[in-house]
Amino acid sequence: MARHPLTDLSPRNLLTAPSILAADFARLGEEIRTVDTAGADMIHVDIMDGHFVPNLSIGPPVVQAIRPVTGLPLDVHLMLTDPGRYVPAFLAAGADHITIHVESEGDLHAILGAIRAAGCSTGITLRPGTPAEALEPYLAEVDMVLVMTVEPGFGGQSFRADQVPKIRALRERLDALGRPVHLEVDGGLNLETSRTVVAAGANVLVAGNSVFRAPEGAARALAGLRALART
Ligand code: DX5
Ligand code: ZN
Repeated sequence: MARHPLTDLSPRNLLTAPSILAADFARLGEEIRTVDTAGADMIHVDIMDGHFVPNLSIGPPVVQAIRPVTGLPLDVHLMLTDPGRYVPAFLAAGADHITIHVESEGDLHAILGAIRAAGCSTGITLRPGTPAEALEPYLAEVDMVLVMTVEPGFGGQSFRADQVPKIRALRERLDALGRPVHLEVDGGLNLETSRTVVAAGANVLVAGNSVFRAPEGAARALAGLRALART
């Protein structure tokens, strides 16, 4: 199946990235096919090491297993203390895009370079308590900036409205770079909070619980989010 990195998608479009952390892992392939058919733009994959965040999730074998299920880009969010150690395994497993945390250890410039050298797109993200300025040294090297609107580690938390000024400031800063960079938001997004972050300048919406655990079903919930692009 054809693969493509995030650079093939325009930051001028509103994009959705359902987070499989909230999917039914016993039916993971089926869950991914549902959101793919419903028009998702990428699949968000949360990787946690039990150290950078107080939770464990999944690793490269799961990324490898879902790779043949969809042609959508796999948007891999690494919540790891030592991302440099694991990036090669995620690249080999079929990641299309990898986002690392600015609070991680190691030579982040070298890690972003390795991701790019593998033909993948690059992202940098930050915890809610980290100021936007911390991203400055990396902005020239990334295709996407991710603003966390919850403390990373768990799905299903409440959206932190105090991060909205950061989204606005980063959108302005990215526009000034003079090249297209996606601005993704992750944590507590539903229809209402998504409206807020889109108004602040975000163009990629990560949504876990509000899609995969929606009473109306994932396809309908996703259609609601995608409709925001037309409002
Ligand atoms: C949290 C993860 C999120 C999470 C979002 O650490 O990065 O991607 O899955 O889940 P919801 O949308 O349920 O807040
Ligand atoms: Zn995430």
